[in-house]
Amino acid sequence: MTTLQHIGVLTSGGDAPGMNAAVRAVARSAIYHNIKVTGISEGYTGLLEGKLTLLNSRSVSNIVNQGGTFLKSARCMEFYKPEGRAKAAEQLRESGIEALVVIGGDGSFTGATLLAREQHIPVVGIPGTIDNDIYGTDFTIGFDTAINTVQEAVDKIRDTATSHNRLFIIEVMGRDAGYIALYAGIGAGSEEILIPEKSRDIDYLLHSLNRSDRAGKTSSIVIVAEGDKSGGVFELAKTVEEKLPGYSTRVTVLGHLQRGGRPTCADRVLASRLGVAAVDTLRDGTSGVMVGLRDNRITLTGLEKACKETPDMDPELIRVADIVSI
Ligand code: F6P
Repeated sequence: MTTLQHIGVLTSGGDAPGMNAAVRAVARSAIYHNIKVTGISEGYTGLLEGKLTLLNSRSVSNIVNQGGTFLKSARCMEFYKPEGRAKAAEQLRESGIEALVVIGGDGSFTGATLLAREQHIPVVGIPGTIDNDIYGTDFTIGFDTAINTVQEAVDKIRDTATSHNRLFIIEVMGRDAGYIALYAGIGAGSEEILIPEKSRDIDYLLHSLNRSDRAGKTSSIVIVAEGDKSGGVFELAKTVEEKLPGYSTRVTVLGHLQRGGRPTCADRVLASRLGVAAVDTLRDGTSGVMVGLRDNRITLTGLEKACKETPDMDPELIRVADIVSI
């Protein structure tokens, strides 16, 4: 056990529901162990600008149920440069902050890795992104809320699709990953799911829609991950209308509503467990790692590995999606 006395916590990159629960867990866990904890506003940008506030247990009251991040978040260009990271380390040292907890995605972890390596600041990462695209954890904070949000939106779209015998092509977020599309697509009972991890071209989609038609389906839902390479939702809709004129097609881009909303219980519990684990890890004297959950157990993964490796898309899920959609 170290004699850690003061840590900082920040949220960085795209916000995700459950980040507040993670900050709360980090803050309360630190206080529980008599460690001072400073909240850094607006990610690395706020760190460089000295936006630091000492937190107590009450500073994080009534946020476990709130989406977004009360610390606010940012994507910081200056932090990509060594001088920016040197300035950040100086800021931390001047404030007496000995170690940092970074809650964010792979971009945030790249910065954290370099800060630890170049400036010898102990850093632990907590995976917070709706995309679920981080190696070393089965789930990232915010993913469960996002897929439930998408599922609810698609359920609503299904009502109108069914009423008008229409085909809806729906774009969901996920950056370069198809996890949101795959999980929400299965949950919402979509006819087809297009994801970057399993490329399927327009001919495949046309064949699948023809098959649905023959199977007696009068409306269809196609979920497309934003990172899918088949040309984008508007192009897909145009081609479908040209090749299958029998279909009345509409496009919906769900956009940033997928990032908001009250975190689900699963996200709050995940965030609480990872927040406590992050402080335990720093107290043990371990740095340069990300805390994650694998097979329902806390695991540590090197931050660099967490950034560089891509989690495997489970082929069983793709098979399930194909089978249940006939
Ligand atoms: O990483 C989270 C995410 O919402 C992605 O799914 C999406 O591609 C991106 O952020 C959008 O970024 P911004 O909010 O900067 O437009």
